[in-house]
Amino acid sequence: MSAYVRAVRLVNFRNYAGATALLSPGLNVIVGENAQGKTNLLEALAFVVAGSSPRTPNDSEVVRWGESFVRVEARIADGEHERRVAVGYAPGSKKRLTVDGAPVESLARYAAGAVGVRAVTFFPDDIRVVKGAPADRRTFLDALLSSLRPAYARAVAEYSKAIQQRNQLLRRIRDGLSSKRTLATWDRKVVELGLELLAGRAAAAGPLDEHFGAAMSALYGPQKASVSYSHSATPEDYAEALREAHGADIERGTTSVGPHRDDLRILLNGIDLTTYGSQGQQRLATLALKFAARDYIRNATGQDPVLLFDDVMSELDERRRDYLARCFLESTQAVISTTNLRYFEPGVLRRARILSISGGSISQTTKSSVDNSR
Ligand SMILES: Nc1ncnc2c1ncn2[C@@H]1O[C@H](COP(=O)(O)OP(=O)(O)O)[C@@H](O)[C@H]1O
Ligand SMILES: [Mg+2]
Repeated sequence: MSAYVRAVRLVNFRNYAGATALLSPGLNVIVGENAQGKTNLLEALAFVVAGSSPRTPNDSEVVRWGESFVRVEARIADGEHERRVAVGYAPGSKKRLTVDGAPVESLARYAAGAVGVRAVTFFPDDIRVVKGAPADRRTFLDALLSSLRPAYARAVAEYSKAIQQRNQLLRRIRDGLSSKRTLATWDRKVVELGLELLAGRAAAAGPLDEHFGAAMSALYGPQKASVSYSHSATPEDYAEALREAHGADIERGTTSVGPHRDDLRILLNGIDLTTYGSQGQQRLATLALKFAARDYIRNATGQDPVLLFDDVMSELDERRRDYLARCFLESTQAVISTTNLRYFEPGVLRRARILSISGGSISQTTKSSVDNSR
């Protein structure tokens, strides 16, 4: 069985002063009224598993207002073993990541292996992956690949830095402060890193398309759905295209080709969901992309990631809710928040662990006590 999160402890995480949740394999349902901390608990789980929040790049945001630090600890069950992992952060100092008490210096290594479990998250805002700008789709893809390979995460960071520096140079050339000859040196570096990104993304595109198609036909219907990578320049033409764009790039002071300008096209029956999808189609496609990410991680690592899905049932019809509930029950671990337990059938709830959230405190209901109350 794949690893899963057995327990999580939150200290000063958003509206939680101090709280502990015990989790089961299979389905865990977080229930509570609005603004009680359901989303925050899912975010805390993602924070401790990945070392950072999927909702904000700014760690200070998750520190409880008026407090000086945040800490989230988890116990990871991995076969016979149990691993203790923790993320601690005090604004102004470096974030501390530990596994069994030993510091892990690299965030990429913590997230992509050291914890021993990965998470696939769904927050309602994630609809931007389908609906939003190309950058949102690139972030989705890069985060997925980074969670599998620290080397990819490093290449993403270095590429982004190289592009920023190239853009600065372009502006200096435009303003007559640098010579055009220096550009060739930067181009070589940019192409070298960019090709690493393109190779990683190209290898993922085929499998993701396949998993996405399967998830969409289960969630949406038999229509043909696909996701494909859209290049601003192919790997073969990349260096050439960058050279050809010199004039225009200098004029604008930005780099117009490369993986930072690429996109994912998400199609349903040949129609681009980003531009023409209804809200409902975009939401289901977002969900299908998350299941595609799950399948991709499963194939790449042999381990099931945990699913952390926020308020996913509310906008779905009954058939889709029942389908999802079955997926969650069969997952190694799924943690799903809802305002309404009635979105789950009694038979499903009997097999789930229920966590009730109120004002930043968590009360547990064991599986058997849900049983007895019926
Ligand atoms: N850094 C923070 N410190 C304290 N409270 C916060 C912080 N960030 C968000 N909150 C509060 O947490 C509350 C619960 O949020 P949330 O988890 O989104 O609720 P739910 O998902 O149950 O509707 C909100 O009222 C919000 O104002
Ligand atoms: Mg919420």
